[in-house]
Amino acid sequence: MEVGFLGLGIMGKAMARNLLRNGFRVTVWNRTLSKCQELVSEGASVGETPASVVKKCKYTIAMLSDPSAALSVVFDKDGVLEEISSGKGYIDMSTVDADTSSKISEAITKKGGYFLEAPVSGSKKPAEDGQLVILAAGGKELYEEITPAFNVLGKKSFFLGEVGNGAKMKLVVNMIMGSMMNALSEGLCLADKSGLNPQTLLDVLDLGGVANPMFKLKGPAMIKGSYAPAFPLKHQQKDMRLALALGDEHAVSMPVAATANEAFKKARGLGLGDHDFSAVFEAVKGKGSSGDA
Ligand SMILES: NC(=O)c1ccc[n+]([C@@H]2O[C@H](COP(=O)([O-])OP(=O)(O)OC[C@H]3O[C@@H](n4cnc5c(N)ncnc54)[C@H](OP(=O)(O)O)[C@@H]3O)[C@@H](O)[C@H]2O)c1
Repeated sequence: MEVGFLGLGIMGKAMARNLLRNGFRVTVWNRTLSKCQELVSEGASVGETPASVVKKCKYTIAMLSDPSAALSVVFDKDGVLEEISSGKGYIDMSTVDADTSSKISEAITKKGGYFLEAPVSGSKKPAEDGQLVILAAGGKELYEEITPAFNVLGKKSFFLGEVGNGAKMKLVVNMIMGSMMNALSEGLCLADKSGLNPQTLLDVLDLGGVANPMFKLKGPAMIKGSYAPAFPLKHQQKDMRLALALGDEHAVSMPVAATANEAFKKARGLGLGDHDFSAVFEAVKGKGSSGDA
């Protein structure tokens, strides 16, 4: 199967590489084109523009930073829309809001193409290991056709119905994750300030009912002040913002998420946006970063 891949950031690069390693023919494009070179040396082809990738491939997957990037790659000059046509499929795996996804879906289907939104749960390592959880919605036919690729990228795919449901599910999941990261940060801070060993707190948490892979993975690095980006903090704050807007739309009061969003905003203000989202710990501690990105 030949697929196009737009966006070779932390996630996109790992995902496109997995497709290559599993026998897919992959044509890649990235806004900063030089970032394509690594995958070219592993067998990928390059498209000069999103339009040229879509022209060449029956299926094109996108993994872009946020709603404005997702819209730009479709609607701007040399974008996806210029070459999408009957029989071609566009799968957007970026985390965006339902409105953005619907706009893209309408434009693609109006030109005869098929659209699927398919944001993912899971970070850099699950992307590298093909262990993502895929939250798809939109074109059921396209979902079935692209399943061989999803089987390589993920450990489980959900088909959630109409366009927007994948985006919403992803935002709810990340809203919970962002609030949990803030709770962990406050706990580590309180343990430390009250004379407890933060590592012992992690050990205790790991043996109880609130044990989870995220605390286990991120906690020790946070104690060391090490924030190499697996999930950039600026993207986590974008997801909190979009989840809060969804809450606004449905009149759901979410004070915990709103407070967590403030901490992520504060962390961005401290210059931590490109660090891992666990660097919110620095904002909770009330310091600037001394950690490593
Ligand atoms: N990292 C994770 O753990 C994780 C997990 C689940 C979901 N996600 C979601 O997956 C998406 C990608 O995340 P990531 O971590 O891979 O982000 P990233 O490393 O920041 O990569 C972002 C990608 O978007 C491209 N981009 C940004 N603005 C653009 C624009 N205006 N036009 C065209 N391309 C643009 C970047 O191109 P350049 O290289 O030119 O900057 C890059 O390819 C985001 O929606 C994120 O929320 C991430």
